[in-house]
Amino acid sequence: MLNAQKSLVDKEFVFTQQNFDQVVKLINDLSGICLTERKVDMVYSRLARRIRLHGLNDFDSYLAFVSDNQEEQVNFINSLTTNLTHFFRENHHFEYLKNTYFPEMFKNNQRKIRFWSAGCSTGEEPYTLAMLWHKLQDKPKYADFKILATDLDTNVLDSCRQGIYSDDKLKPVGSEYRGFFKHTSVCKPDEKQINPKLQEIIFFKQLNLMDEWPISGPLDLVICRNVLIYFDKPTQKRLVERFTELIRPGGCLMLGHSENLSADKAALKAIGKTIYRKE
Ligand SMILES: C[S@@+](CC[C@H](N)C(=O)[O-])C[C@H]1O[C@@H](n2cnc3c(N)ncnc32)[C@H](O)[C@@H]1O
Repeated sequence: MLNAQKSLVDKEFVFTQQNFDQVVKLINDLSGICLTERKVDMVYSRLARRIRLHGLNDFDSYLAFVSDNQEEQVNFINSLTTNLTHFFRENHHFEYLKNTYFPEMFKNNQRKIRFWSAGCSTGEEPYTLAMLWHKLQDKPKYADFKILATDLDTNVLDSCRQGIYSDDKLKPVGSEYRGFFKHTSVCKPDEKQINPKLQEIIFFKQLNLMDEWPISGPLDLVICRNVLIYFDKPTQKRLVERFTELIRPGGCLMLGHSENLSADKAALKAIGKTIYRKE
């Protein structure tokens, strides 16, 4: 057991076990995110920036400040989320949509197609879906496709709406999709902006998965990848159950590579790596 008063780090601000425990509790209360002791350095460095910014002297004063200041709670959350993502991440999901799922919906003359990218981070996931859609051959003219893209973190949603990505971030984008990115007047020399026509089919919205969802189903796909891993098992289970309720019969759920389905398995059938269809 660590000494509650001794600093966990040898740095600018004292950061005690008690401070860390308070951070763990507050972020869990606000977002469901569970932080482990392995995140001590990450928590210190991200929150030390907030302490400096507010001209405070230590974690004690910052934690007293953030605990009853809703505006700072938004920054606190934004500081502690992990937003790693990239275009065409876990590409087998997109291959499945392109080769199997979309053709099946077209064959069934489905008009309305609704996807939800839950925990969309900086937008690479919903934009990959939108690019895929635009490049699909033989789409019926009547097909009406929309993507809802949500995240808890307000900063990443600003990035989504801007749709500006560094050339480095575009590395996983294949040549057939590169035409969707152009250097525009708002870009830095090493950046490109996404074609606004992709934004026409995406609705970006701030949403905490722990709250009520103002979403009316039925949905054809919930793609919630590399998000559940930040929550504890009962929360993961509850979320998968809530996703399942929103998905239409025959609809699809996609999870991240390290996420197991811990829900009512009778309702969902695994049909590929982290791809499930509702019975
Ligand atoms: C690692 S990113 C995953 C991005 C993308 N889905 C992917 O797989 O590439 C996890 C995202 O989940 C979001 N997140 C964490 N807790 C959340 C919550 N309670 N509600 C909504 N989003 C949350 C984070 O802000 C972050 O952007």
